[in-house]
Amino acid sequence: MSIVIKGGTVVSSHGRRQLDIRINGEKITELGNGLSIADGEEVVDATGCFIFPGLIDGHTHLELNNGMTDTSDDFTTGSIAAVAKGTTTVIDMATPEHGGTLDECLITWNKMAEGKSSADFNYHMSVIEWNENIAKEIPKMVKKGVTTFKMYMAYDNLRTNDAELYEAMKIIKSVGGMLGVHCENGDVINQLQAEYLKAGKTGPENHPLTRPNQLEAEAVNRYLTIAKQANLAVNIVHLSTKEALEVVKHARAEGQEVYVETCPQYLLLDDEAYGLPNFEGAKYVCSPPLRKKADQEALWQGIIDGEVNTISTDHCDFNFKDQKIIGKDDFTKIPGGMPGVESRPELVYTAGVAAGKITPERFVELLSENIAKQFDLYPQKGIIQVDSDADIVIWDPEATGVISAKTQLQHCDYTPFEGFQTKGKARSVYLRGNKVAENGEIISTKQGKFIFRKIT
Ligand code: URP
Ligand code: ZN
Ligand code: ZN
Repeated sequence: MSIVIKGGTVVSSHGRRQLDIRINGEKITELGNGLSIADGEEVVDATGCFIFPGLIDGHTHLELNNGMTDTSDDFTTGSIAAVAKGTTTVIDMATPEHGGTLDECLITWNKMAEGKSSADFNYHMSVIEWNENIAKEIPKMVKKGVTTFKMYMAYDNLRTNDAELYEAMKIIKSVGGMLGVHCENGDVINQLQAEYLKAGKTGPENHPLTRPNQLEAEAVNRYLTIAKQANLAVNIVHLSTKEALEVVKHARAEGQEVYVETCPQYLLLDDEAYGLPNFEGAKYVCSPPLRKKADQEALWQGIIDGEVNTISTDHCDFNFKDQKIIGKDDFTKIPGGMPGVESRPELVYTAGVAAGKITPERFVELLSENIAKQFDLYPQKGIIQVDSDADIVIWDPEATGVISAKTQLQHCDYTPFEGFQTKGKARSVYLRGNKVAENGEIISTKQGKFIFRKIT
């Protein structure tokens, strides 16, 4: 079946142009002005709308057991929430068991996603321990289409030490892969948490105090120092502080290749949320924690200046009532993370484009094109051009709405953005040529597939 989308303004990082788009099967087959319509072709009028490439969330935990409890979303529900609002591809954090192999983890993640996901998908394979077998598995992952890896400098159940980080970097470098790291100083955080608990400080307001800005900046500095020794270009996931961004700028000025991801929560929320009464602050517990307004401003400036490359969500949700409550008497036990995969496009468009901070071109770059380029999905994804997948978002820049837990599709009993007024929304969403959502309502599910990535 062939479709022609007419009258919309196609946006990429290079600019915007009014162009008709012909979709044939799963691909974009023609772009041009005044495309002719053949008998039986469907015509979609996109006058007044932007046409974005399908948005990509480069950092989700759609289905994760954190050692205590499972995320409230799984691939089925989380991916429906994603595509409904314009995110057609997710790169999820595949996290192995201790003592398990990367291959076992890949099999587990494929079982969770295949036949269930409504968005296309792939994974960053987490390396949570280091040994000879894991070292041998990294090239095997690349051969299986998983070209990017994730490591942690915090969380005792996930982190490796600096030597192990360095060894992993050398192997990732040898196969041309990409590494992303959670940068916080785990040792000092452990000490601070123990001190606070000993002093009877058990509430969520202590979460940001035990993970101060400097502990992110120090870890970013150490990570980049090690990456320089390994001569590896690296990504920093969910960067949250002014200080860490300064470290990045310095490294870049010295010639290092560094990529920075931030998330809507670090741009739009701040640490005052942790002081909410009735344990409500627990809803905002994520790591790194929400920061100060000065950090938000520095991150927005980084977005404007091009120092921040991508905005993904770190979607990792737990219900407030029966899951966040696990940490009622001990803030270190509050399951960390929050929902976000659904609301990212509307949040960033509203606070970024509609507010006049960034252009639609930059929006596309941050939420799709750069993610595709960084993680070996480009040009299959991340751009509207002939032969690319027909992942298309027809975006109505004038539509308004309000974010609310009552209406969201994410399976979570709250949203950290409750009451946020939005401007701009996905009118229609196509995944590889199939319309999957219209006006926020899902119309076709479980069509997502594993996108085999190749290092170019
Ligand atoms: O608190 C968070 N962000 N949980 C998800 C895991 C991570 O650190 O990315
Ligand atoms: Zn993290
Ligand atoms: Zn994460």
